Amino acid sequence: MALVDSRNMFAAAYKGGFAVGAFNVNNMEITQGIVSAVAEEKAPLILQISRGARKYASMSYLRAIIDVAVAENPDIPIVMHLDHGDTFETCKQCVDDGFTSVMIDASKEPFEKNIEITGKVAEYAHAHNVVVEAELGQLGGIEEDVAGVDVGEVSKHLTDPEQAVEFVKKSGCDSLAIACGTSHGAYKFKSEPKLALDVIEAVAEKLPGFPLVMHGSSSVLAEFKDLINKYGGNMPDAMGVPEEAISRAVKLAVCKVNIDTDLRMALTAKIRQVFAESPKEFDPRKYLGPGREAIKEMVRHKLHVLDCAGRAAECL
Ligand code: 13P
Repeated sequence: MALVDSRNMFAAAYKGGFAVGAFNVNNMEITQGIVSAVAEEKAPLILQISRGARKYASMSYLRAIIDVAVAENPDIPIVMHLDHGDTFETCKQCVDDGFTSVMIDASKEPFEKNIEITGKVAEYAHAHNVVVEAELGQLGGIEEDVAGVDVGEVSKHLTDPEQAVEFVKKSGCDSLAIACGTSHGAYKFKSEPKLALDVIEAVAEKLPGFPLVMHGSSSVLAEFKDLINKYGGNMPDAMGVPEEAISRAVKLAVCKVNIDTDLRMALTAKIRQVFAESPKEFDPRKYLGPGREAIKEMVRHKLHVLDCAGRAAECL
């Protein structure tokens, strides 16, 4: 099977009350860890690439790695998605590069301008059989060069359900990332974590059947946070979205859940552990290997949180 777009996945996810995991990839080990987990769990998969990843690894290397993943797993539907495209030109480039899904994030722009830019991307992408994710409302935190609002202020920038209806109708986007209390990165909350499930519910009620996307969905797992802090790291205040809240969101209308920070932390924790416990080690395979394995087990666990384990066949 070649790369697919997310239409069938989201239709199945909406109907089945699960979400597809969208995991960020930057190199071979991260991709292998993710892909081996979905292959064993028979789950659909969205591999997402940010502008930072394109710059770091180059598109030709990332594409070659993803092509191997697709060829080796003919029963697993895999989407190649642009995460946080900033301009029409970036999205066009990715459509031309063979992405099957692109995100245009014009959420910082005024409402009408966001519609206009998203509409332009949708027109070009749809003409090339590529689907489009857009964003309305603003998240907190920071992800690469995507800076959101202050984490303490997210509740003031949640998606307005009325606006969401108008936005989807006028822009022609295929899925919508909404602001529902999450933030990018490892520092999502200053106090008690809180997800605005009522916002998800209200948008879903006004847009029945329309797939919603949740960014900033890493949970900052204690296992990895503790290892990082134990072995020389310094992330004592890191806090993520509780998995129980994510499981509730996917039962509503959230069909795609974005995870990057948890991958980064799994890899970093294992590398730190190997360096601390085996200071004489200098073979990269001896620390990247355990990192890749940690990613695999973490992703496997997430597939159950999202309830998408065993759902690959439903999404074809
Ligand atoms: P996290 O930082 O919570 O992993 O979110 C990643 C994300 O939303 C990518 O778009």
